[in-house]
Amino acid sequence: MQTPIIAPSVLSADFSCLRQAVELIDRSPAQWIHWDVMDGHFVPNITFGMPVIKALRPFSDKKFDVHLMIENPGRYVEAFARAGADLITVHYEAATHLHRLMQQVKKAGKQFGVAINPATPVACLEDIIPYADLVLIMSVNPGFGGQEFIPVALEKIRRLKTMIDLLNPSCLIEVDGGINDQTAPLAVEAGARVLVAGSYVFGHSDPLQAIQTLLTAGQ
Ligand code: DX5
Ligand code: ZN
Repeated sequence: MQTPIIAPSVLSADFSCLRQAVELIDRSPAQWIHWDVMDGHFVPNITFGMPVIKALRPFSDKKFDVHLMIENPGRYVEAFARAGADLITVHYEAATHLHRLMQQVKKAGKQFGVAINPATPVACLEDIIPYADLVLIMSVNPGFGGQEFIPVALEKIRRLKTMIDLLNPSCLIEVDGGINDQTAPLAVEAGARVLVAGSYVFGHSDPLQAIQTLLTAGQ
């Protein structure tokens, strides 16, 4: 199995020291930084937006993986692109015109990802997979860090892997929610390539060690 790409989520970092969290990830073997943008409408929680991402962009060369848990994402694509996002993931459930959103993200020069909630079937993605750089399988209901992994996500990852192998083998599968030393190997075995982890990394006494442990999930 391939070594997974680790995308620590700063959602569980100390928000009074976000720059230190970004710098910590920057000197770790994690390749990406995951940014959980929440608007209080699509999800019950509110986090941060473009200004925060823009302010922290200079402190890391890692890939900025922006997960938009917001309604009307098309209104903000260009702003997040300008703020420093490398990959912009929108929710299938928040998009009326998903294909148009994909075009918008690509036109802004960024990679396009699509996320689905735990109750949304992977079959919905069949016609967008050929155009997607990434599919994000939510393994918790979006809105909060520190929730328990929902096991049905594993079966969804397996089904999605079969679809992707057929339709667009370069599309990455990312899993987000409840990823830790126990669930990471299961997700990788099922076919996930990118592991998002918030509370496991930032709730750990040694976040760098936690990232290292996740990296070995494929072995
Ligand atoms: C949840 C977010 C996740 C969150 C994961 O809505 O999308 O990225 O940070 O947190 P953990 O790893 O604690 O489940
Ligand atoms: Zn996320």
